[in-house]
Amino acid sequence: MAYVVTETCIRCKYTDCVEVCPVDCFYEGENMLVIHPDECIDCGICQPECPADAIKADGEPGHGDWLAHNATFAAQWPNVTARLPPPPDADAWKDVAGKHSAFSPAPAAR
Ligand code: SF4
Ligand code: F3S
Repeated sequence: MAYVVTETCIRCKYTDCVEVCPVDCFYEGENMLVIHPDECIDCGICQPECPADAIKADGEPGHGDWLAHNATFAAQWPNVTARLPPPPDADAWKDVAGKHSAFSPAPAAR
């Protein structure tokens, strides 16, 4: 089992999650972060830290497809181990629905 980053991270990228992860298993794309499912130790520390409530435990209803997304892009994007400045319009995107379809396919890392 692992935790996964879900849709509400898109265009927000607050990176509070990165700051607390004890095993540095977050990876950064242009528009969102993902968690490497094989590296996550399932500690749950990051989940309450996300201002966008984007982090879910794999298996939570409605979030099944995000495990594959996290696994796929964690293998392609660079590791991120320290907090980064969020995009200037992060707060404007925080409560927008349907971000995944608007920004799919997932972009390459910056
Ligand atoms: Fe890191 Fe723990 Fe969050 Fe997994 S659950 S990503 S190990 S902080
Ligand atoms: Fe994304 Fe939340 Fe982390 S918005 S970058 S999962 S703190």
